[in-house]
Amino acid sequence: MNFDEEIKRKHTHSMKWDMLQERYESDDLWAMWVADMDFKVPQEILDALQEVVDHGVFGYHFPPDSLKEEIRSWLDRRFDYAINPQQIVFTPGVVPAIHHLIQTFTNEGDGIVIQTPVYYPFFALVKENNRKLLENPLTDETSGFTMNFEHLEEQFKNGAKMLILCSPHNPIGRVWTEEEQRRLAELCEKYGVFVVSDEIHADLIFKGKHLPFSNVARDYSINLATCMAPSKTFNLAALQMSYVIFDDSTLQKSYEAQLKSNFVGGISPFAVASCEAAYRKGEPWLEKLLAYIQENISYVKKEIKNHLPEVTVHEPEGTYLIWIDFRKLGFTSTSLQKWLREEAGLALGEGHVFGKEGSGFARMNVACPKGHVEEGVRRLKEAYKKLPKHQEHSSS
Ligand SMILES: Cc1ncc(COP(=O)(O)O)c(C=O)c1O
Repeated sequence: MNFDEEIKRKHTHSMKWDMLQERYESDDLWAMWVADMDFKVPQEILDALQEVVDHGVFGYHFPPDSLKEEIRSWLDRRFDYAINPQQIVFTPGVVPAIHHLIQTFTNEGDGIVIQTPVYYPFFALVKENNRKLLENPLTDETSGFTMNFEHLEEQFKNGAKMLILCSPHNPIGRVWTEEEQRRLAELCEKYGVFVVSDEIHADLIFKGKHLPFSNVARDYSINLATCMAPSKTFNLAALQMSYVIFDDSTLQKSYEAQLKSNFVGGISPFAVASCEAAYRKGEPWLEKLLAYIQENISYVKKEIKNHLPEVTVHEPEGTYLIWIDFRKLGFTSTSLQKWLREEAGLALGEGHVFGKEGSGFARMNVACPKGHVEEGVRRLKEAYKKLPKHQEHSSS
């Protein structure tokens, strides 16, 4: 594996690289936005995919039991999350899975809580399903972001039926502690709130182990669906595969009936082969990846601290995404985005799309070669030096 290798992605229909014009009104930007990686997948995955290609027949297909067994074993090894393979239901992606969970377990007009700033499709999932969006903004403290349990309880009292938990949390990179998850579980039990726990970033944690919400929820009486996937961990998003785990077989049956009545198809043999190879043989690659990403994070943190002192980096405990606070530079949300695009030549995740609390922030994806991160940071530093007050400083 060579994480330093720069692999050209332009003109490959990559969202990150080939949708810049559409999203940022310029093609000529340094892309650090979409949450995928610019790295090649482990060789073991390429070999498994090659075998599928070499077979050459792509007729109707179903996921083998061995896939569920690999998932069971991975969850057990990595997170002490003990499940039975029968608890797993496949869906082509976590976003479609959440859509079907909302459809199955809530009705039109029901309240669904999300904790903002958060992965922005959560807003659309609630609104497009004609459910009521109930926001519980995270508390932004000097020590980092925390959940606001008092306000959450108010939202639950307002009749919330479901909570979409993001664990680890994109974009702020928090890995929720056991204490936080227990407080959450207590409230969900008290108000009978269904929890959809989106744990797609579970493998991307820098210290300790991911704690699945299910391992906490088993001590409470809570309806829960846990969404996971190998896609963030091993850069397989285009192969479209995720899975939902149910602790309750009645809930599982309802969800399966929803998928059936909506004619949701299965997953492809490429998804099966890549996930099996990843979970069976991908651990050494993943450990090296995490160390590499951590170096990128430390680099960004150090450079920003030394060269853009008013800008604050929220060092992620998990995810390869860095939430950066530009508010002290005095921009409005619109002028910050303009500055990042036009002066720094950067396409970062623009903070306001993650909710109004994201205004004045931007999200930088550092799952890319170090040289790419260095160029991104260089652009930030150059743009910062040209800010009027810094010109005054440098000439005085
Ligand atoms: C929290 C979260 N959930 C879901 C997704 C997307 O999942 P999928 O591609 O499986 O729909 C992302 C991608 O960035 C994410 O960050």
